[in-house]
Amino acid sequence: MAKNKVICNKNDVDYLTIRKAMTSGARTIDELVELTGVCTECEGCKRELEAILSSVCGCKKVSLEAVVNAVKNGADTVEKVGEVTGAGTGVDEVTGEPCGKCKGLIQNIIDQGR
Ligand code: FES
Repeated sequence: MAKNKVICNKNDVDYLTIRKAMTSGARTIDELVELTGVCTECEGCKRELEAILSSVCGCKKVSLEAVVNAVKNGADTVEKVGEVTGAGTGVDEVTGEPCGKCKGLIQNIIDQGR
């Protein structure tokens, strides 16, 4: 699972801030700029923003595209998305407890349909 780290060095925007913006509906770099203040100019922005945006569940390596497709094909709850894609069903490597950190984002994708 990804640990928190600074992604945008110029404006000091970290990974968790970007993930929270995604959970609030950001799906594009322009939307991340608006919600988080990422600069899109520093190396962290250039190298990492697209990859972060394209991933929903780090535990199960499930992409945004896979979750959106599951939703479009009728998965209308977080549990159903998990059954179809595996997203949201990971286990914390340290504690062995269910992770679920991506469930808020999955719910937002269901709510927005994107
Ligand atoms: S990030 Fe999806 S279950 Fe951990």
